Amino acid sequence: MDFNSEYYQLLPKANHTELLKRQQENIKRLTSLKKGIRSLRERADCLPHLKAAHLDFSGDAVTIGKADEISLADRDKLLAALKEFMPWRKGPFSIFGVDIDAEWRSNRKWDRLLPVLPDLKDKVIADVGSNNGYYMFRMQHYNPKLVVGFEPYLHHYFTFRMLNGFAGCSNLELELLGVEDLGLFTESFDVVFLMGILYHRISPVDCLKEIKKAMTPGGTLIVESQAIPGQEPVALFPEGRYAKVPGTYFVPTGTCVKNWMIRAGFSQVEIFCSHEMNSDEQRRTDWMDFESYTDFIDPQNPALTVEGYPAPLRVFLKGIS
Ligand SMILES: C[S@@+](CC[C@H](N)C(=O)[O-])C[C@H]1O[C@@H](n2cnc3c(N)ncnc32)[C@H](O)[C@@H]1O
Repeated sequence: MDFNSEYYQLLPKANHTELLKRQQENIKRLTSLKKGIRSLRERADCLPHLKAAHLDFSGDAVTIGKADEISLADRDKLLAALKEFMPWRKGPFSIFGVDIDAEWRSNRKWDRLLPVLPDLKDKVIADVGSNNGYYMFRMQHYNPKLVVGFEPYLHHYFTFRMLNGFAGCSNLELELLGVEDLGLFTESFDVVFLMGILYHRISPVDCLKEIKKAMTPGGTLIVESQAIPGQEPVALFPEGRYAKVPGTYFVPTGTCVKNWMIRAGFSQVEIFCSHEMNSDEQRRTDWMDFESYTDFIDPQNPALTVEGYPAPLRVFLKGIS
């Protein structure tokens, strides 16, 4: 099954006609016979009989199944499929006893949210830029009604599809949509997580305004962003790449993000966390063998990126729609 539209009934104000059209277009993409897509699909669906009995989303590692739930032959097949989904950017995971040490220790970001996390029980939630679903599974621990992941990349879509194929969480849905599609979801979400996204948007305030329209009044938005140090409400606009990452537009201070959120119409906006990045939290591992944090930072001066810009902080904010 590629997509489920039954859950739209939980989003009565969303534009169902357009969403169904998008799903049909995306089904065509997913069922394409192009070699790259076919191989992602075959990998994601290679162990359809594996259904995890043991699930634990409460700890640092999202745990789906235990080692003794599967045969040795299936374990070999599983390990090969998981390896083929490299690079693993977000994690950690433990899948039927296979431990995946991803580039990011995403559990640390999650831990920073916990002091302000709203009650997620029975809530309708959007995770924008959901990647392989790590945070969606962490949200699942709190028994939400529905979590919709917005993730336009096929690699991440198929990774999540394989993981949730094993986990069988019917209230977790990942759509091949982007933050720019949130306009289709009028007053739909009680809680929105917008993490690692804003600095990739060419118009961050328009993005926040669209998100506000997609939220139920009184809902909670959690924003996490790359940031520069400083108290002034300003943003760095790199000439090209920032920390080697293309597609980075405004890298704001925490106060700047706060003002963007206020100007987009959010109330009770607060910065609840700000911290420096480091190579212990984002690093090369056996499951991500490309460049990582240390390669993005000036080796002579860790306060600068390789381009000579201020090295990134991460800021966390919360606002009410
Ligand atoms: C920096 S990662 C952040 C992932 C995760 N939210 C986190 O905080 O760890 C950005 C994610 O957004 C996804 N993405 C890229 N373009 C997007 C778009 N237009 N809308 C939503 N997500 C997008 C990327 O594929 C990637 O998974």
